[in-house]
Amino acid sequence: MKAYRARLLRFDDNTGAPLYDEDGLLVVGPDANGRAVVRAVGAYGALAERFAGVAIEHLPGRLIAPGFIDLHVHYPQTEMIGSPADGLLPWLEHYTFPQETRFADPAHARQVAEVFFDELMRHGVTTALTFATSHPASVDAAFEAARERRLRFVTGKVLQDRHSPDGVRDETGQSLADTEALIRRWHGVDRLGYAITPRFAPTSTPAQLRGAGELAARFPDVWIQSHVAENRDEVRWVAELFPDSRSYLGVYEDFGLLRERAVYAHCIHLDDTDRLLMAERGAAAAISPTSNLFLGSGFFDYDGARRTGLRHGLASDVGGGTSFSPFATMLAAYGVAREGATKPGLTLQPSNLWWQHTAGAAQAMGLGGVVGNLTPGHEADFVVLDPAATPLLARRTAQAETLEEFLFALIVLGDDRAVIRTVVDGR
Ligand code: GUN
Ligand code: ZN
Repeated sequence: MKAYRARLLRFDDNTGAPLYDEDGLLVVGPDANGRAVVRAVGAYGALAERFAGVAIEHLPGRLIAPGFIDLHVHYPQTEMIGSPADGLLPWLEHYTFPQETRFADPAHARQVAEVFFDELMRHGVTTALTFATSHPASVDAAFEAARERRLRFVTGKVLQDRHSPDGVRDETGQSLADTEALIRRWHGVDRLGYAITPRFAPTSTPAQLRGAGELAARFPDVWIQSHVAENRDEVRWVAELFPDSRSYLGVYEDFGLLRERAVYAHCIHLDDTDRLLMAERGAAAAISPTSNLFLGSGFFDYDGARRTGLRHGLASDVGGGTSFSPFATMLAAYGVAREGATKPGLTLQPSNLWWQHTAGAAQAMGLGGVVGNLTPGHEADFVVLDPAATPLLARRTAQAETLEEFLFALIVLGDDRAVIRTVVDGR
């Protein structure tokens, strides 16, 4: 066992309300299966005696918080961040598909996967739900690199058998056989999980979507990830391609792709029928504010999500997104929540933004109680933050009078310099 004495942030498992100790103790040790988990957490004064025999690392002034969860990101797009385009569809055609074509080469995939995981961990991200490319070797490369780092990590081979150029387009039958083989090879190995990954409705034939839905039914604890209702031109295109479906979201419903552990990126241009259907099925929205601002896609409707009980969490969506930093994503989400807010809302609270990127994201992924929080039993993934990492951050956080002010100062002024350690699986 090992203990850390510092400022400690975590969340109530039921309400999501922040729990905080200015002088806290986090005790980490093996559970019955030998996995490193949180054994105890609370005020130092209340726990010190009970854990008197345990080595304590004292980190005065530092903040320990749950490792961040990136609910939607594309590792093959790491090196194309900031590619300017008129909107989603030209961006895919001019930058994304050519970039992803290079992942047919396993050596290239492995090299970019290394850079990607180094970036995630430098920014305090310890779990990610991630797109690979349509090449099965791109999935192997990511899983191998994640496994070496002991990360809890989910990815999958992109399915795209139409409206895609040579080099990324796959073939219906082979793509489904590859998906099943990858599920059998990787799902549940160490901390890894597989996600069935149709790119988005326009780039899959009905046959491919049907096959994906059949796999999702046969492997019910495997994840599903895709994009929905991101951009108005895309929404119009889907309506032309699938005239019989009630809506864009309805396409996924029609092919059996709405269930627990299904995470859809963007969810901007939905109506309440869509939101209620997602909520009822246990599907979740990955909110990608820096991407939506960069590509001019629109604003996630927080009021709509709250009104309908739609589960949601935060995501970088790199390379549409402009930063791996959870601080940048939380700040952009604040702007989005302000834009749409009809009244001062929960989502404007710094602690709630933080929850959306940790415990809330874990719940959206179906990993509540496993990662994203530091209450007892959670896996030992956490960050050590320095609230005085820069001169301005030091001066600002020193003046914070409440937890919300303190967290907001970190969200607004913090970046990778504030992440002084990322602990994964207790190490
Ligand atoms: N829709 C289909 N593919 C993509 C992608 O790679 N990024 C984003 N942001 N939207 C998509
Ligand atoms: Zn995306």
